[in-house]
Amino acid sequence: MSDENAKKLYIKTYGCQMNVYDSERMAEALGGQGYVATDTPDDADMILLNTCHIREKAAEKIYSELGRYKGLKAEKPDLKIGVAGCVAQAEGAEIMRRQPMVDLVVGPQSYHRLPDMEQQVAKGQKALDTDFPKEDKFDHLKSRPKAQRGPTAFLTVQEGCDKFCAFCVVPYTRGAEVSRPVDQVLSEARDLVDRGVREITLLGQNVNAYHGIGAKGETSLADLIWQLNDIDGLERIRFTTSHPNDMDDALIEAHGTCDKLMPYLHLPVQSGSDRILKAMNRKHTAEDYIRLIERIRAARPDILMSGDFIVGFPGETDQDFEDTMALVRAVNYGQAFSFKYSTRPGTPAAERAQVDPDVASDRLQRLQALLNEQQRSIQDAMVGQEVTVLFEKPGRLAGQMVGKSEYLHAVHVQAPKSMRGELVRVRITESSTNSLAGVLAQDVAA
Ligand code: 5AD
Ligand code: SF4
Repeated sequence: MSDENAKKLYIKTYGCQMNVYDSERMAEALGGQGYVATDTPDDADMILLNTCHIREKAAEKIYSELGRYKGLKAEKPDLKIGVAGCVAQAEGAEIMRRQPMVDLVVGPQSYHRLPDMEQQVAKGQKALDTDFPKEDKFDHLKSRPKAQRGPTAFLTVQEGCDKFCAFCVVPYTRGAEVSRPVDQVLSEARDLVDRGVREITLLGQNVNAYHGIGAKGETSLADLIWQLNDIDGLERIRFTTSHPNDMDDALIEAHGTCDKLMPYLHLPVQSGSDRILKAMNRKHTAEDYIRLIERIRAARPDILMSGDFIVGFPGETDQDFEDTMALVRAVNYGQAFSFKYSTRPGTPAAERAQVDPDVASDRLQRLQALLNEQQRSIQDAMVGQEVTVLFEKPGRLAGQMVGKSEYLHAVHVQAPKSMRGELVRVRITESSTNSLAGVLAQDVAA
């Protein structure tokens, strides 16, 4: 089908990298039904919202976003509107009840059924699927003929979570923890490398709990990384997101010994107070976490630590919050994400007495000021150092390329476009709010 005749698909992606990955797979699956991607809803034949339920009034935001498409749908009655992702999973048929113009609702475990659902919708019927099916969605979400890819890609290796932190919806929306078999992961990784990918980020809600079946039985994340390490042409491996209790010795050691594994680790702790950690059902103490980071740094001294924090969790006192500040000072984070607690109906913490919102806002401000200061001083300390940058795309200024350092800092460099996809030594010359600037080390040497 030529592109002029193709139907246009607009996907709006919310939330985590897992959703970015899922949106790519959904676009590929619907490509088989004659859809090509468009980057505006205005000329779309199908609008798909790939939603996230992790924070703040997610469902309400989706309903108001849907409201915005009413005019478009009135002008173009054939326009199909779909909701995917975790809000779809959580709300299910309620979405079609509240917004009758929605044609399709699909949960994260059912994306392989999209082509069938699209056919149903094309006939003017509604399609709803929020089951947790037995068959494997990844088996059905095979990529279409080899399109060239950019230098970096995500690869989902694990989905779901069995941890049931008291604030979190993931165990309910994404279901139980499931790992993809090793062969599937390796063949998808080889395929990505054939298509130009140099860096793969392994994704999972609890990625370091990975235990996929491989040739020698259950395979840990560290084993999987060592197998990926053998793929020629793959230069860098990252993984996210991890739980402290699943950082095993082999994974810690791999950070010291596996060349392709990058020195960056996102390891959410949520709170520095043992009382709150217990109430959150995190099953570790602040001390456990700090000791763990010491061991990780012993294996890889320059590793850049990143984390997630929640302030104002039910029952959090001033002292609990001070404990969080103390933990942050002890760790020194290069990057962090921090949030005010917000209730998720159906999770245990939703039933508990809530902290005064003004108190929570004050705490968030103080925490973010400290985290920003740490992030900035780690970033500033890069000036004068040499790093390796994987060039991903042209920068905003003429003649500029942008890529990431080992430590996941964005780095802007004057360099030819032909260097896209190359790993290049760069001397850092400048640190600004959210990125670094540098010059090609070869130019300095010359
Ligand atoms: N309120 C605030 N933050 C939350 N997160 C998850 N659930 C909630 C909630 N109910 C944060 C956690 C998690 C990150 C992805 O989102 O910090 O690690
Ligand atoms: Fe949610 Fe992560 Fe806790 Fe699982 S480990 S329940 S995904 S916060």
